Formats: sequence, C-alpha cells, structure tokens
Amino acid sequence: MSVLVFEDQATASRAAASHIQSTIRIAVANRHRAVLGLATGATPRRVYAHLVELHRAGQLSFREVITYNLDEYYPIQPLDPRSYRAYMHDLLFSHVNIPPHQAHVLDGTVPEKFADQHCAQFDRWIAEDGGLDLQLLGIGRNGHIGFNEPGDLPLAEALALPTRFVELDTITRRDAARDFGGEDRVISGALTLGIASILAARSILILATGARKAEAVARALGGPMTYRLPASLLQSAASRVIWMLDLPAAAGLP
Ligand code: PGA
Repeated sequence: MSVLVFEDQATASRAAASHIQSTIRIAVANRHRAVLGLATGATPRRVYAHLVELHRAGQLSFREVITYNLDEYYPIQPLDPRSYRAYMHDLLFSHVNIPPHQAHVLDGTVPEKFADQHCAQFDRWIAEDGGLDLQLLGIGRNGHIGFNEPGDLPLAEALALPTRFVELDTITRRDAARDFGGEDRVISGALTLGIASILAARSILILATGARKAEAVARALGGPMTYRLPASLLQSAASRVIWMLDLPAAAGLP
C-alpha cells in the first residue's frame, strides 16, 4: 500500500481533494463518468470544502460524477441534521453541480423488512454504473471502515461481506456521542457498504488524521489481516490503496 504522510490535517485534506479531482478528470475522459464512493465523519469535512472551492473556481465539474455514500445511520430521516444524507447535502451536494439522481446515500427510512433488499440494490447500482473508480475512506479508532465493525468472522467471510444492516460498536457509539447528545442516544444501527463492496473499488483512498487514529493506523498497516481490525483487510487490495496521513496519525508507523 502507498502511504503518504503530510505535515498536518490541512495539507493532507488538500492532497486528498486534489487526488479526487484527478480521479474524476481521468475517469470522465476515459469512460464519460466518474463513480465515487464517499465517506462522512469529521475527517473528510475539509476535503469537501476543497472540492467545493475547486468547483467554484471552475476547475471541477460534477455533471458526470455519480456518488455512492459509504454508510448511513438506521433508522434516520434524511432531513435529520445527524443523518449522512444531510451531511453530504450541507457539505457537498448543495454546493456543486451534481444532478440529484446521481448522488446516492443509503436510505435510512427504508422499511426494516426491506433493508437487506435495499442494500443489495445499492451494490447492484454500483456494479451497473461500472464499479467505483475511487472509494474514499476514514478509519474508526476501533479500525472500522464504513460501519464494518470489528468482529470474530473468519477472513474469507469478512472479505465477502456485502452492503447490509449492522449494529454499531461501543467505541463507534462513544465517538458519535457528541453529535447525538450522549452515548445512549446514538442510533444503534446503520446500513453500510460491505467489505467486499469497498474492496471492489478500482482505487481506495483512506485518510486518517490526529493522534487518536495512530494505533488503528499502525495495526491496519503493520499487523495481521483480521476482521478484529477491519481496515487491515485493505492489505488484500494493497496495490490499489493509498493512505494519506498527517504526522500525528502516522506516529505509530516504523
Ligand atoms: P471520523 O470518523 O472522521 O469522524 O474520525 C472516521 C470513521 O469512523 O471512519
């Protein structure tokens, strides 16, 4: 895997935005569309701000961009400010020229008995759009990617995980407590792109900043491949993965 270390979060975010911009340019030139897997959370906020700046400066069009978000709380209303649909609308979609029917977020209002079908349909849409040109990822303190939370699954089963409903891990709920006004108020479920769906992307950009991510980053890069640390499974797609870190997040690397 390539690992790029930047002085600080601002520089890493700028590099990530510029990587996304060139991915879009190349994919649109080659296939008349770019298909992006997008992430939410604190880490990519600045990346989206840079993409919006590039768009405003006339250097980046989203007309031929199709996006699929990595995850969404479940159940949640799209207008709930804590939903990832609202996050994407506020930080990116409402500021750029992406056609609404090309910006997809898993639906937090789908009836429970149809949640699995909806997730399978999301995987099918991605495949029918030609697959993801780039999946943008963050990493949780527990090593999750998307909401694929650590567990004891055998490697082969973990690598085959599709997009699906999941229960959130305690560490994930603790980290989301501020947004929800307390750990016990965090929505306990989510829909997430599966490990298989993430690994199928033609390229993967994983961004991690801050000292609190250093341990998970070091284990994901240098430890064994195990679903106890889902980000370690990126080792199975090593030639297609780029890590962008700031110095504090890289502190545990040799
Ligand atoms: P964060 O989350 O960017 O809010 O730290 C990253 C993640 O959980 O994937």
